Amino acid sequence: MVSISVERPGQRDGVLALNRLAFEGDDEARIIEALTRDGLVVLSLVASDDDQVIGHILFSRLEVEMERRAIRAVALAPMAVHPDQQGKGIGSALVRRSLDLLAAHGVEAVLVVGHTGFYPRFGFSAALTRQIAGPFQGLEAFMGLELRAGALSGQGICRYPAAFGL
Ligand SMILES: CC(C)(COP(=O)(O)OP(=O)(O)OC[C@H]1O[C@@H](n2cnc3c(N)ncnc32)[C@H](O)[C@@H]1OP(=O)(O)O)[C@@H](O)C(=O)NCCC(=O)NCCS
Repeated sequence: MVSISVERPGQRDGVLALNRLAFEGDDEARIIEALTRDGLVVLSLVASDDDQVIGHILFSRLEVEMERRAIRAVALAPMAVHPDQQGKGIGSALVRRSLDLLAAHGVEAVLVVGHTGFYPRFGFSAALTRQIAGPFQGLEAFMGLELRAGALSGQGICRYPAAFGL
């Protein structure tokens, strides 16, 4: 049975291996390590089955100002589900559980650069990021979600930490 919980220290190797497998490369695993080293991880959730890590999602602190006021924002990146387990709802369950936890902790907004066929079902929208200056402004894949109504309204700017290597 698949269970979802906050990543435990002993699961890090499984998390990194899963990301290397799902993304067919090392970039995302390196980002996870860099974000952790820099103390920026806000939430890391793992989906496991029989102690095997089969899904993972990570959120990190992101500098976002809207109308010159800093808001509590996080970046969703990366997320991955084991290739043999995709399409079974595990990714969706990870996103939904995370959003509940983040809202309960007072996070106001989530930004993601990701699949336009996947994230809108959770409420992410490119319309909410059009006025946010930064490396991804104008991309359809750059989407935002408000956990506090109006959190992303107006003109804004976002700065990604060095861990993303932008
Ligand atoms: C994207 C990912 C996390 C989704 O996890 P999942 O457990 O398969 O997701 P779910 O089963 O909850 O939902 C599946 C839906 O996601 C969609 N989806 C999966 N990969 C997609 C992609 N590359 N582009 C667009 N949509 C995608 C599926 O088409 C499916 O849509 P449907 O429900 O309309 O048929 C998973 O496919 C994955 O790990 N992919 C490789 C790594 C990756 O791309 N990570 C995300 C970076 S933004």
